[in-house]
Amino acid sequence: MSRTTDFLGQSTPIQELKHLAIQVAQTEATVLITGETGSGKEVLSRFIHANSKRSHLNFIPVNCGAIPAGILESELFGHEKGAFTGALQSRKGYFESADKGTIFLDEIGEMPLETQVKLLRVIETGEYQKVGSSETRYTDTRLIAATNRNLQQAVTEKNFREDFYYRLRSVELHIPPLRERGQDILILAEYFITRFEQQHGLLFEGFTSDASEILLRYSWPGNIRELKNLIESLLILEKGKQITSEILEKHLVQRNRDKGLVHDPERSEKNELSLIYNSLIQLHHEISDIRRLLLHREQNDTTERKPPLLLPPPVTELQSGTLPSTPPAETEPDVTGIMTLEELEKKTIADTLEMCKGNKRRTAKLLGINERTLYRKIGKYGIENDDRLQAPES
Ligand SMILES: Nc1ncnc2c1ncn2[C@@H]1O[C@H](COP(=O)(O)OP(=O)(O)OP(=O)(O)O)[C@@H](O)[C@H]1O
Ligand SMILES: [Mg+2]
Repeated sequence: MSRTTDFLGQSTPIQELKHLAIQVAQTEATVLITGETGSGKEVLSRFIHANSKRSHLNFIPVNCGAIPAGILESELFGHEKGAFTGALQSRKGYFESADKGTIFLDEIGEMPLETQVKLLRVIETGEYQKVGSSETRYTDTRLIAATNRNLQQAVTEKNFREDFYYRLRSVELHIPPLRERGQDILILAEYFITRFEQQHGLLFEGFTSDASEILLRYSWPGNIRELKNLIESLLILEKGKQITSEILEKHLVQRNRDKGLVHDPERSEKNELSLIYNSLIQLHHEISDIRRLLLHREQNDTTERKPPLLLPPPVTELQSGTLPSTPPAETEPDVTGIMTLEELEKKTIADTLEMCKGNKRRTAKLLGINERTLYRKIGKYGIENDDRLQAPES
């Protein structure tokens, strides 16, 4: 399923926001996007890129909060061979890979102060240096940044540079939370229903009118991401049923009790149910990811085939319906090619990184770990990969 570059929504604030975004897209201005978690900051940044004259060039999303501080500069600007322990070869940074495209700096509020100085210089003069090099390089890259933190407060607390903040917020686009977007909630719900019906090959029977009322009145603390996940759970777990207010209440995890709009006398039991449903969805995603990974491995693993770690019993025994007989004591199992768990982990990470063309976010997602853990393991195993291009996610 291809990623939409449209920013969906018909409500007045969203129409105005889109209008502004299209105007800004056609300039070279650095943009700061603010909004609650899950409100669509990355979607809006892709929309700006798609409407800019750089739309045919690379769009590189960088999650500043997930990349350890010590690695972020090398990721952004690249490094020379020997710049630090483990820098076995020189590598391109995102600015070089972007190649006149757009870099999206997500969670900019998490960026270390010393990296902020360097980025301010890039914004003002286009100049930067690779880690471990004194040679000044130039980049012509559009920057879009996003945060769900209050940067003004971070400036007051001296956690964010004031000059960088004012430079960034010269064009600020704020995405309103979903609960303030009225009928957009139903429009987005429809959009996700169609998308997931196609993806899972299931039919959705729709909402009763009182269930739609709940959708409109719910506080959506996780915004569009929460709505999207809810629709997917409803489609998979309640297939074939029309969604009533009772079913919907059963599924909604009410996180903001003060603003809570769903009357729920058996909250603890329902929260427990929601947790189980969420775990099932998570499991479903993980199984799909593993399936994709195995398929990919199978296709690529035609040359050097190592024996599987767990061998199935011989076919004849399975077919005859008898239990596999105990192997004779003198037969030592063939352990050639058996890897330790660490070797296996290193190989899996390296293979997945290669498969994802160096896209760490996608690699982490496929492996079911967060990006920070992935970076830690790449460092631990000294895994190198040159291709930093982040292929657009599908
Ligand atoms: N206007 C929109 N149209 C269609 N899908 C959207 C829209 N806005 C958000 N989404 C979907 O909602 C989810 C969250 O969006 P996104 O990642 O852009 O949010 P975010 O504000 O960057 O979140 P976070 O603060 O957690 O980084 C994504 O799956 C995205 O596809
Ligand atoms: Mg984001």
